[in-house]
Amino acid sequence: MGLSIGIDVGGTKIAAGVVGPDGKIGARTHRDTPADSVDQTAKAIIDAAAELIADHEIEAVGIGAAGFVSADRSTVLFAPNLAWRDEPLGARVGDALKVPVVVENDANAAAWGEFAFGAARDVQDMVCITVGTGIGGGVVLGGEMLRGAHGVGAELGHMRVVPGGHRCGCGARGCWEQYASGRALVREGRAQADSGSLAAAQMLSVCGITDSAELTGPMITTAATQGDPCAVELLDDLGRWLGEGLASIVTLFDPSLIVLGGGVSAAKDLVTKSALVAFERNLPAKANRPHPPFGIAELGNDAGIIGAADLARLEAPEPRQ
Ligand code: BGC
Ligand code: NA
Ligand code: ZN
Repeated sequence: MGLSIGIDVGGTKIAAGVVGPDGKIGARTHRDTPADSVDQTAKAIIDAAAELIADHEIEAVGIGAAGFVSADRSTVLFAPNLAWRDEPLGARVGDALKVPVVVENDANAAAWGEFAFGAARDVQDMVCITVGTGIGGGVVLGGEMLRGAHGVGAELGHMRVVPGGHRCGCGARGCWEQYASGRALVREGRAQADSGSLAAAQMLSVCGITDSAELTGPMITTAATQGDPCAVELLDDLGRWLGEGLASIVTLFDPSLIVLGGGVSAAKDLVTKSALVAFERNLPAKANRPHPPFGIAELGNDAGIIGAADLARLEAPEPRQ
């Protein structure tokens, strides 16, 4: 009893699972994310959920979406790195499945998963940062998810860290996600390779490629794990940006714990060491205030599925007719 479905809509894969009140995933399924088609994406989500609903008694469906989600948690207002614009995802999926559907920001869902069942299960105040293509933020204060007046309150990746800096997918300049995300990592790696750096050329060869356009974030992480100096430096830089941003975020929320998830989890020390140094150095009133520790996400790629399912189970509206 009490089963819900969590669906994590990623850039390449839609991953879905049946989740119990204990946060454990039973049955799973997945679909490829259709490139650039909002309609096909909704279809693929419906299809994946229907497959699981056929074999399970489901109370609600939670969808984690990488964008700004409305306060009623049904519309994706905007997605900086995807095609959603005022997309009524919750209504579409709910109408098709005849099950209550809750749409949640992907990073909020992951944060909730870590808060309820993962690295932050023992605290009441936490900030979770997911570093992937973009930077996602999830904030839980006093055991409650922070959403703000319009639902879009924890969009931490769009905090400005460089006035007049790189243009972001959100339209603004100098957002944190232009400096500390996977996409920023790749941009910097390519720029170094294209500027003729010998160290970067060496990195490309460690990655098994000759064209910088083929470079990806996971390739850089793997090269760094093997000790490639250019890749190590790129991740070190990313960590520094991450730590500096976190120093500002802590002034806003004063969490007991900062959880780092997404791609950084794989890079571990290569990112967190420099992040911690930059964080400690830049934290305002650093000598006279408690410093929250960093933790690494424990639920890995499942955090979004588990968190979306749990939030849907706890907060779903009445069934649609
Ligand atoms: C989006 C967020 C999302 C994050 C991680 C950002 O660009 O604005 O809504 O949580 O990427 O996917
Ligand atoms: Na968020
Ligand atoms: Zn932005």
